Amino acid sequence: RKVVLAYSGGLDTSVILTWLQEKYDAEVITFTADIGQGEEVEPARAKAQQMGVKSIHIEDLREEFARDYVFPMFRANAIYEGEYLLGTSIARPLIAKRLVEIAKEHGAEYISHGATGKGNDQVRFELGAFALAPNLKTIAPWREWDLTSRETLMAYAKERNIPIDFAKSGKKSPYSMDANLLHISYEGGGLEDPYWEPEEDIWRWTVSPEKAPDAPQYVELSYQAGDIVAIDGVTMTPAEVMIKLNELGGKHGIGRLDLVENRYVGMKSRGCYETPAGTIMLRAHRAIESITLDREVAHLKDELMPRYASLVYNGYWWSPERKMLQVMIDESQAPVNGVVRVKLYKGNVIVAGRKSDNSLFDANIATFEDDRGAYNQKDAEGFIRLNGLRLRIAASKGRKMD
Ligand code: ARG
Ligand code: SIN
Repeated sequence: RKVVLAYSGGLDTSVILTWLQEKYDAEVITFTADIGQGEEVEPARAKAQQMGVKSIHIEDLREEFARDYVFPMFRANAIYEGEYLLGTSIARPLIAKRLVEIAKEHGAEYISHGATGKGNDQVRFELGAFALAPNLKTIAPWREWDLTSRETLMAYAKERNIPIDFAKSGKKSPYSMDANLLHISYEGGGLEDPYWEPEEDIWRWTVSPEKAPDAPQYVELSYQAGDIVAIDGVTMTPAEVMIKLNELGGKHGIGRLDLVENRYVGMKSRGCYETPAGTIMLRAHRAIESITLDREVAHLKDELMPRYASLVYNGYWWSPERKMLQVMIDESQAPVNGVVRVKLYKGNVIVAGRKSDNSLFDANIATFEDDRGAYNQKDAEGFIRLNGLRLRIAASKGRKMD
């Protein structure tokens, strides 16, 4: 049988590859994608070849990832549980989609991944696969095998001469990590004590705010229909925007996060994240929306945002309700054009200015000076009286109001 494996080239998925060949007598087809994790993907080819793989797919999906997943999600200002910018969550639907497409191409009946049975990622891969190819089956080795510790995994690899290139990734990290254009995440190891503060050298993408430059840096972000299209006047693609903002944010110590989140499977999990570009993008997007969106449109977006974020977190990207919300969100973004100027300074993204040809801000009306009749202050009296009517009635009938 044919199995398409999401293959990183690392130890875990190399063991999975061999295990699928042994246990299922599978013809394994590998799929490795560059989604901006900052590691070479080409070395996965030689490793897969060494393990007898004939069909090897290696793809640069950075542009697609930024354009069709990250940017649409940022139009919604999505944040899970008030803090998490969904860096891992948003990458899974793309991987699921490509696994399914490659399976169809090869007439494979199975896909396989290296996510554990305890996490969110398995849910995201497999809900995506169910939605896009209802008859495709998934093999999730972590839910099946008994290689439950690092040692048994290593022993398995040694016995079978699985090529493990430890030098490649530098010093071996004690954390479970995941990276792409939007973030790098750390879980496990010492982080399993939620009171323990990780050592400074856990962080790979950002300097500490304490060590960030003493001089602030101003950056000008140009928006078109809710998406950043230029930085400091230079037109860029979505992936280029993210690479540039990760660099700027990293330099100024922006986007570190340490939290305990609720996984969909029910447990709490402690994670550390670095999301420099995303942190800048969220702040700036809210700033441009603040002058271009109608109040009720903005408030409705904000009410629906937690629902949208949960859909992404829980693995329902490929669902009718996420698509429905997306249509609505995208529709709202037509006037979200203009420029936001932000100041990056020691871990902070400070909005310094915003302007737009579609701005609804009217200085003639808002002014504290003489507005020359633009706004009749007497109108406010009736507005308040009617809005207060039920309060006055209740109070006059002796209801306790405090
Ligand atoms: N807890 C985060 C999430 O569910 C990060 C998951 C990291 N995944 C990983 N395979 N290390 O989105
Ligand atoms: C995993 O369990 O594979 C990583 C963590 C997660 O998916 O939540």
